[in-house]
This record gives sequence, C-alpha cells and structure tokens, in this order.
Amino acid sequence: MKMRHGPLRMLPYARPYWKVILAVFLSMMLYSVGVNGRAYLIKPFLEEVIIPAEGLRSIQGLKPNDIDELRKSYSPEQEQRDRERLTALLRKRLLVLIGVALAVVALIPLANFVKEYASFYVVHRMLRDLQCDLCDRFLAMPLSYHNRARKGEILSRLNSDVSKASQSFKLVFGDLAQEPLTLLVGVGAMFYLSWQLTLMIGLALPPLVLLVVRFGRKIRKKSRKRQEKVGAQVSSMIQMFSGIKVVKAFRTEEAESQRFRSLSQSLFQREMKVARTHSLSRSVTELFNNLTYIVFLGVGVYAILNEMLGLTLPVLVAFLGLATTLYRPIKNLSKAYNEVSDAMGGLERVCEVLDLEPDIRDRPDARTLDEIREGIRFENVSFSYDGNQLVLKNIDLTIRKGETVALVGRTGVGKTTLTDLIPRFYDPTEGRILIDGVDLRDYSRDSLLGHIAVVTQEPFLFDTTIEENIRYGRPDATDEEVREAARAAYIHDAIMALPEGYKTRVGDRGARLSGGERQRVTVARAILKNPSILILDEATSSLDAESEKWVKLAVSNLMKGRTTVVIAHRLSTIQNADRIVVLEDGRVSMMGSHEELLHQGGLYRELCELQLRPEDLSPAPREKAEGER
Ligand SMILES: Nc1ncnc2c1ncn2[C@@H]1O[C@H](COP(=O)(O)OP(=O)(O)OP(=O)(O)O)[C@@H](O)[C@H]1O
Ligand SMILES: [Mg+2]
Repeated sequence: MKMRHGPLRMLPYARPYWKVILAVFLSMMLYSVGVNGRAYLIKPFLEEVIIPAEGLRSIQGLKPNDIDELRKSYSPEQEQRDRERLTALLRKRLLVLIGVALAVVALIPLANFVKEYASFYVVHRMLRDLQCDLCDRFLAMPLSYHNRARKGEILSRLNSDVSKASQSFKLVFGDLAQEPLTLLVGVGAMFYLSWQLTLMIGLALPPLVLLVVRFGRKIRKKSRKRQEKVGAQVSSMIQMFSGIKVVKAFRTEEAESQRFRSLSQSLFQREMKVARTHSLSRSVTELFNNLTYIVFLGVGVYAILNEMLGLTLPVLVAFLGLATTLYRPIKNLSKAYNEVSDAMGGLERVCEVLDLEPDIRDRPDARTLDEIREGIRFENVSFSYDGNQLVLKNIDLTIRKGETVALVGRTGVGKTTLTDLIPRFYDPTEGRILIDGVDLRDYSRDSLLGHIAVVTQEPFLFDTTIEENIRYGRPDATDEEVREAARAAYIHDAIMALPEGYKTRVGDRGARLSGGERQRVTVARAILKNPSILILDEATSSLDAESEKWVKLAVSNLMKGRTTVVIAHRLSTIQNADRIVVLEDGRVSMMGSHEELLHQGGLYRELCELQLRPEDLSPAPREKAEGER
C-alpha cells in the first residue's frame, strides 16, 4: 500500500533507459574498485617496498648476524653486491606498483565521468517524461476538478514537486547506488585484510542505520509540509498577478505584499525545520563515524602490540585507509537517504496526480457523431455541482436543428450550467441529453466536440498572436480561412490596423485588445471552427455603442445556419431567436417568442424592463433590430 506513493511508482519512467542505466551501474562498479583500490594499495607498497627498503638501511637486514662464522666470511664486496641486487629488485617492484597505482587512479575520473554524464541523462529524461505525464493528467481532468483546484497548486506540483521528486532519481542513479557499491567493495577488501576487525564494524552498523532511518522519516514528513507551503505561495502569486488591475485599482498593493510576506515567512519556517533535521542528522552521523574510527585505531594498535588477530603494520594501515575511504560513502549514503526522504514529500504529491481519475472516458462502443439531423433534447435533466443542491431541476427542452434558442433568466439561475452540459463539461446528475435520439454519453467525445463551438461569457485569449488565437478553433486552417473568419467576425480591419497585423501578440489573456475586439476574436475562432452546434454565452460586460454594434454583427454572422443555444443579454439577440426559454429557480418557467412572452408578462417582462433600455420594449422591436443590421 505504501509503495503506491513510493519510488517504485517511478519504475516505468526508468524502464525505457535501461541501457544507459546499465552503463551507469557498470561505471559505478569501476569507480568503487578504483576508490578502494587506491586505499588498498598502501599495503603492497609497505610490504613489498617500504619495509624491505627500511631493512636494507641496516646491515642487520642483510647479514645473517646470528652466526659468527658466516659473518666473518661475508665480505664487504659480497655485501655491496647483495645490497645492489636487492635495491634493483625493490626498484623494479616499485615501478610495477606505481604503474598499478596510476592505472587505478586513471580509472577513477574516467568512471566518474561516464557515471555522472549518463546518470544526468537518465534523470533528466525521466524528469521530462514525468512532467509531460503530469501535464497530460491535469489536462485530462474534468472541468469540475479545475473549478476546484487552485492553479498555483497545479503549477507547483508540475514544477517544484516534480523537480523535488526528481532529486530522488538523481540520488538513485547517484549516491544511493554508488555508495553501497563502494561500501561493498571496501568491506570486501577489509574482510580480506582482517575479518575480525570487519566483523566488529558490522556491530557498529545497525545503530547507525537506525539513526539514519529515523531522521529520514522526520525529514520526509517535514518536507511534505514544506511543499504544501510552496503550493500556497505559488497560488497566491498567481492570484495576485492575474488580478493585478484590481489590486492597483483598489490600491491593495500593501495588503497583498503583506499577505505574500507572511506566506513566504511561513514557507521559510518550514524550510528551516527541514534544514534543522538535515543538519542534525549529518552531525550525529559524523560524530558516530569519528567515534568508530577511533575505536578501530585503538583496537588495531592494541592487537599489534599483543600480537593478536594476526595483524601487522601494513594490514592495519591499509585497513584504516579503507575505513577512512568508507567514511565518505557512509556519510553520503545517510545524506542521500535524508535527501530522498526530503524528495519523497514531492514524490508523494506527484503520485497523487498520477492517481487522479481522468475525465469521463468514452464507452468502448462509443458512436461517432457524423452529422446532426434532428437536434438536441434535454430529458428531465437535473444537475448539481456538489451532489447536494440542484442547480437545474427537471429540464425538458428540445432544440431543433438549425434553431436558435435564447436562454434568459436572472443571474446565477443556471444558464451557463445548462449549456455546459451539451459539450459534456459536466454530465447530468439525473435525466439525459440526446442528440438525434442518442444519449450524449454514447458518442465519442472527440466527435461530439468536433461539432460544437463554445463562445464563453468572458472572452479568453491566449498570450500568442491573433492569428494563432483564431486558428485555435481549427489548427489546420489556411491563412486565407483565418482571414475569412476574421472578416465574418468584423475584426479583420481592426487587426490590419495594428502594426504587426495578424502577427500581433495579444498579451496575457488578450490584455492588449479592447473588450469588444477580444469578443470578436473569439467569435472569429468559433466561425473558423464552423460547428453545427453553437453555444454562445453572451458577455455581460457592457461595451460602448460602436463596439457593441460590431460584436452584434459578428455574432449574427456566427449564428447563421447553426443550431444555437445563446444565453442572451442583448435584446437584439433575443429578438433574433426562434424561441426564448426563461429559466427560473432551475426550471423552465416560460417558452415562446419575444412578443408572446412579453405579452404573458411575469419574469420575462420584468427582466426586459430591468435589463433592457426602455425603448427596446416598444412595439414591433423586431423590425427595428433588423433595421440596425
Ligand atoms: N463550478 C461551479 N461549482 C459550484 N457551483 C457553481 C459552479 N458554477 C456555478 N455554480 C453555481 O451554480 C449556479 C448557476 O450558475 P451559472 O453560472 O450557471 O449561472 P448563470 O445563469 O450563467 O449566471 P450569469 O447570468 O450571472 O452568468 C450559481 O448559483 C453558481 O453559484
Ligand atoms: Mg453565466
């Protein structure tokens, strides 16, 4: 169960790179042989060269001094000859040993280069793959998820958490693999030198491991909390800067700055908590290591003095040399373990994303919607966002092919919600919606959405060129088609008047365009898509008369010949509709033409009187509207 959010979840991301990973491990193996070999070499140097050379200095080393007779017959010439022969022999041995030492030393940087470079490759490929995967997951999540999720939270998971998590890859293909290898080879060599001393090290190990694991657990918990704070901070930044105009207008810079400061402060405190545990852990293991070293030195010297354990000077020196070499892997290993624990905080949050249930999937036998023949029908549709309160109640509504239906109602009554059900941004809580008698859920989403264009209440543009924004409706459209759509949306001339024309970047959310221009660009986008079903949520923001006129013209071009559901705020749109549906308290309360409904009075008349200019309520408005066109 625990592994669900553990490092094993990352295995599939490593699998494609197994060959490189193999190279990493091979070079790690060579590296450990090199590092330990370097320490071990002191033994042959001592045994084969240094100690015999020391002996050579004293006559006693050469003369068989215990037998007087021999001593007399051992002439100075003979002694000189022996001395020279031995010196030559030692020189030869030294050369060989130096050669071996050089080879060992050359091996280390070579292996090091390969393992570092190759592991960097693996780690970053995995990071890239994981990030793309997470992005796909988020994109696949239904709208209801994104309505709830904070954008900063998503961003920080995509960014900070993934890079935190990828530190664990770095360690797995770095210290976490290298150091145990080095330890293994080192301990093997030590075992070969003196198994008794090595077994003693074995005794010191369990408490150390226990210590490291305990610290690691603490760090993991604390790092998770810290990552949550990072999410909160990014969220706050996004809020602040996407609402920068409001911030400026209300002069709340100071308050925003304070809020940010306090978030940063609490992030800092979290960071410090993690850092404290890290340092504490490092210091304690360091103390532990140093103590063990001293204990071994003591035991070794004592053993030599008392001629125990078969210890000799070269063996002890090499053993301690190896032990010092091992000090670094032990330290690194416990550090790496802590860092991995730290990274686990991020990894857990990443795994949570991998666990997200994606958007409503197509049924295996989903149909393709080729063409709309009859129209759309809502059958007893109820909908609730939270599973509690019904926003829509028992809606029955038929929209025939080619018909324009205008939805009106008080703000918050559920107009946008109702239209959101058609492209299946949400599925009905009860009842069903049919196109040509087939439940929407039986169509493949691709084919369904291929027929629908949605113009949202707030025009949204991406921070790219105008051309790209229009082409968003149909990426394969030609330049000429894009221009054609822009003309139909009455935005072409305005675009051409810009210094860079269609290549003008619109800024974040289209900030560089006026409200009316923005709306017409989104209309052009929908025109280019050429959908058979159009869902139009008229912007409630009021435009000046001139702008309003162009938007109106653009919209009427867009609606031509399509099955349209329009959430109408403009009288002209309402009047052009074939049918008007009045929503009240989540239900359809009235239906009919403008005149009929006006005649019936009730909410419709009230709305018209409230929202529309008095002159619009004068008789025969239809003609007036047409005169305007
Ligand atoms: N994503 C959401 N999650 C939860 N509740 C929501 C969500 N979107 C809207 N609501 C609620 O559902 C109700 C209907 O909202 P909806 O946006 O459909 O109203 P509307 O008729 O389009 O209003 P307006 O004319 O102001 O655009 C409102 O009470 C709103 O608070
Ligand atoms: Mg709305």
